[in-house]
Amino acid sequence: MEKIYLYGNWKMYKGIEQSENFINDLSKYMENHLWLRQMLKNDRLEIGLFPSFTSLASARKVLTSKGLDKMNVHIGSQNCHYEETGAFTGEISWSMLNEIDCNYSLIGHSERRHIFGESDELISLKVRSALDHGIIPVLCCGETLEERENGETERVVARQISTALKDLNNNMTIVGNIIYAYEPVWAIGTGRSAMPEDAQDVCRYTRKCISSVLGEKHSGNAKILYGGSVKSSNAESLLNQSDIDGVLVGGASLQVDSFLDIVKPFA
Ligand code: PGA
Repeated sequence: MEKIYLYGNWKMYKGIEQSENFINDLSKYMENHLWLRQMLKNDRLEIGLFPSFTSLASARKVLTSKGLDKMNVHIGSQNCHYEETGAFTGEISWSMLNEIDCNYSLIGHSERRHIFGESDELISLKVRSALDHGIIPVLCCGETLEERENGETERVVARQISTALKDLNNNMTIVGNIIYAYEPVWAIGTGRSAMPEDAQDVCRYTRKCISSVLGEKHSGNAKILYGGSVKSSNAESLLNQSDIDGVLVGGASLQVDSFLDIVKPFA
């Protein structure tokens, strides 16, 4: 059984106290559930939590104080700017994330692309600069409902992936660190997940797109997550697809039980 990636995107939910409570509850859950400890310890599960900017530092502290950082549980940001410093009101930089030992970041989440107007070009700058700062990008891609209905899913995913990776080359070993997330926009927060076979098709196609920029060696090893209304009732069949290595979860990641129930069948 391969390692499963279970990532929770908390979006603009949970302040400092709620984030700390979640991590404390996660730690208690681990104490009480051998299956979870074993999955994490045997490297069959990796958990990633993506709190708000204001909660990151305290979430990191609690995580470390509970020893979860040594148990395959990681903290990431939901966004970051690509410049080191500068007149960029409202932004934070990778070095600021480095300071609090935050080593993952979502990049190009559909809410960033569609609500905040992030372009493929901007996302490409972020991917490159994240890697330069030792931060693992979780690069998101996915089509809107209109694009899907127009039969443009592959074209959109190909454009998003090839632009995001265009400044990288397969000689850079760090590119192997990138994690990918296919999240159809119409499935995010709607309760309407993609059918497992459809999600599999696009994840396989995403791998093909990675291969055409970085080569087969990288694409074969690339970790691709599916996201969009994932919950315990639909996760198992999604995670059983051959090109889906994990899930990026929004709503169901806000409670410890609903989050961990997603991977319980694989214990
Ligand atoms: P959802 O969000 O699980 O609430 O659909 C997923 C995401 O935005 O990453």
